[in-house]
Amino acid sequence: MLHKRSRILWVFATMFLVVCLLIKCTGGHNKTSEQTGASAFAGAEKCEGCHKEIYKDHLQTGHYLSSTLPEDAFFAGNFKPGMNAIAYDPITSLRMEKTDSGYFQTAYLYNQPKKAERIDFIIGSGKKGQSYLGWADANLVQLPATWFTPAHQWTNSPGYPADKIIFNRPITARCLECHSTKFDEVKSTRPNMDAFSHEGIILGISCEKCHGPAAKHTAFHEENPSEKKAKFIINPKNLSRQQSLDLCALCHGGRLNKTKPSFGFQPGDVLFDYFREANPGTPAENIDVHGNQLGLLKASKCFSMSTMTCLSCHDAHQKENDDVKLYSAKCLACHGDTHQKQCKLLASEGEMIRQNCIDCHMPKQASKSIAVTIHHADTLTPVMMRTHYIKMYAYATKNVLDTLKHNTSKKK
Ligand code: HEC
Ligand code: HEC
Ligand code: HEC
Ligand code: HEC
Ligand code: HEC
Ligand code: HEC
Ligand code: HEC
Repeated sequence: MLHKRSRILWVFATMFLVVCLLIKCTGGHNKTSEQTGASAFAGAEKCEGCHKEIYKDHLQTGHYLSSTLPEDAFFAGNFKPGMNAIAYDPITSLRMEKTDSGYFQTAYLYNQPKKAERIDFIIGSGKKGQSYLGWADANLVQLPATWFTPAHQWTNSPGYPADKIIFNRPITARCLECHSTKFDEVKSTRPNMDAFSHEGIILGISCEKCHGPAAKHTAFHEENPSEKKAKFIINPKNLSRQQSLDLCALCHGGRLNKTKPSFGFQPGDVLFDYFREANPGTPAENIDVHGNQLGLLKASKCFSMSTMTCLSCHDAHQKENDDVKLYSAKCLACHGDTHQKQCKLLASEGEMIRQNCIDCHMPKQASKSIAVTIHHADTLTPVMMRTHYIKMYAYATKNVLDTLKHNTSKKK
C-alpha cells in the first residue's frame, strides 16, 4: 500500500532560498564588537524582571516561536506512528521519531533504518508550517521533511527532490537572520556553506532584534534602580518612518540581496546600507502575499497618502491573529467620522461594515510561493495569507455580503 500514499511535491518559488544560496558577501562591518558582539546582548530572560507584561505577551507571538529548541511544546509536526512518515517509493521512506536521545528524521530502506539526523532546531511557529535544522559540525542543514500545517501532513522540504531523501541542503545566514535574533558566523571549511558558532545563539525574534543589544541598558537600570528614564535602548516608536519600516522590512520586505554580512543590520539602520532589492519595480499584482507585506502595502493609497507604518495596525508585542474587529478599529482611526474618506457601503450596509473592513479590503489570498501538490489532488494546496494591498476587491465584497445574507436568512 505504500506506493498509494500521498506523494507530496513542494512547489516553492524559493523566494528566499535562491537568494540565500547565490549571495556572496561583499563589504565589511561598520559596527564595533561592543555594539554587536556577544557581550552586548542581555537575553530576553533579563527583561522579564522589569518589563513583566511585555515579556509574558511576547512568549505568545509568532516572533518568539520563529525558532526554538526541539522541545515537545514547540512541535507542530506529528510524531505519532501512522502520521509520521513520507513514502518515497514502495521500499524507501522517511520517518519522524522521538527517542530517548532526541527527535530524529530517519531514512528507512526495507524497514531498516539507514541514516538518522537529529533535529537541533525548529524553524517556524507552525501556524503555516515548520522546518527542522540539524548541525553538521559548524554547518547547519535543513532536514528533508517539513510539516505543512494547511494539509496537516509531512511534506518534502521546499525545493527537495520528490524521489529521494537528501540530508545536505545548507542553511544560510540569511535564513537565520530572518528567523532568529543571533547566530555568530565563523569561517567555514565547506565551500558554499555558511558556518556558525554553537555558542552565543539567541533563538526566536526576541526583544533585542527590535530594540538592539541591551546589555548596557539592563546594567544601567540594575545599578540605578531609581532612574526612570532609559538612555541606552532603542524604542522604535521614536524612529523615523523610514527607519521603522526598514526594521520590519529586514524580514517582511521581500527578496533582498545582501551586500554586507548577515546579522549586521540593527534597528535604526538604513536597510539599503546592507541590502539591495532583488526585483525592483515588481508590480503589486505580481508580489506574493508571503514574505513581502511592505511591497504590497506601499502600493496602497492608505500608505502613499498618509504617514502609515506597520505599527499603525500591529502591536509588536501582542498575538492578534484573526481579530478582525480589533484590526477594523485601526482602520477607523483614520477612516472614522472626521478623518479620511469613509466607506461608501456604510450607508447601505450599516453596522456590519464597522466590524470587518478586512475581509473586503484585505482578503486572504493564496500564496503562489508556498503551496504543495498532494499526489491524488488536481490542485495546489496553498497557504492563505492576508494581502496588504488595501483596495476594493469586488469578489471579496460579494463573498462577504453573500455570507451575511445567508446568515440572516438562516436566522429568520
Ligand atoms: C533593571 C530593570 C530593567 C531591565 C532588566 C530592563 N529594562 Fe528596559 N527599561 C527599564 C526602565 C526603568 C525603563 C524606563 C521606563 C520605561 O520606559 O519603562 C526602561 C525602558 C525600556 C524601553 C523603552 C525605552 C524608551 O526610550 O522609551 C525599552 C524598549 C526597553 N526598556 C527594553 C528592554 C529590553 C529589551 C530589556 C531586556 C534585554 C530590558 N529593557 C531590560 C528598566 C529595565
Ligand atoms: C528578524 C526578522 C523579523 C523582523 C525584524 C520582524 N519580523 Fe515579523 N515575522 C517574522 C517571521 C519569521 C514571522 C513568522 C513567525 C512564525 O509564525 O513562525 C513573522 C510574523 C509576523 C506577524 C504575524 C504574526 C502571527 O502570529 O501570525 C506580524 C503581524 C509581523 N511579523 C509584524 C512585524 C512587524 C510590524 C515588524 C516590525 C516592527 C516585524 N514583524 C519585524 C520575521 C520578522
Ligand atoms: C527575508 C526573510 C526570510 C528568509 C530569508 C526566510 N524566511 Fe521564512 N519566513 C519569513 C517571514 C516574514 C515569514 C512569515 C510571514 C510570511 O509568510 O510572510 C516566514 C515564514 C516561514 C515559515 C512558516 C512559519 C509559520 O508557521 O507561519 C517557515 C517554516 C519558514 N519561514 C522557514 C524558513 C526557512 C527554513 C528559511 C531558510 C532556508 C527561511 N524561512 C528563510 C521570512 C524569511
Ligand atoms: C518585532 C519587534 C519587537 C519585539 C520582538 C519586541 N519589541 Fe518592544 N517594541 C517594539 C515596538 C515597535 C515598540 C514601540 C511601540 C509603540 O509604537 O509604542 C516597542 C516598545 C517597547 C517598550 C516601550 C514601552 C511600550 O510598552 O511601548 C518596551 C519597554 C519594550 N518594547 C520592551 C520589549 C521587550 C522586553 C521585548 C521582549 C520580551 C520586546 N520589547 C520585544 C518592537 C518589538
Ligand atoms: C494612517 C491612516 C490610515 C489607516 C490606518 C488606514 N487608511 Fe485607508 N486610506 C488612508 C488614506 C489617506 C487614503 C486615501 C484617501 C484619499 O484618496 O483621499 C486611504 C484610502 C483607502 C481606500 C481607498 C483605496 C483606493 O484604492 O481607492 C480603502 C478601501 C481604504 N483606505 C481602506 C482601509 C482599510 C480597510 C484600513 C484598515 C485595514 C485602512 N484603510 C487603514 C489612510 C489610512
Ligand atoms: C492598515 C493596517 C495594516 C498595516 C499598516 C499593516 N498590516 Fe499586517 N496585517 C493587517 C491585518 C488586518 C492582518 C490580518 C490579521 C489576521 O487575519 O490575523 C495582517 C497580517 C499580517 C501578517 C500575517 C499574515 C498572515 O496572513 O498570516 C504579517 C506577517 C503582517 N501583517 C506584517 C505586516 C508588516 C511587516 C507591515 C508593515 C510593512 C504590516 N503588516 C502593516 C493589517 C495591517
Ligand atoms: C462588504 C464589503 C466591505 C466592507 C465590510 C467594507 N468595505 Fe469599504 N468599500 C467596499 C466597496 C465595494 C467600496 C467601493 C464602493 C464604491 O465605490 O461604490 C468601498 C469603499 C471604501 C473606501 C473608499 C471610499 C471613497 O470614497 O473612495 C474606503 C476608504 C473604505 N471602503 C474603507 C472601509 C473601512 C475603513 C471599512 C471598515 C470600517 C470598510 N471599508 C468595510 C466594500 C467594503
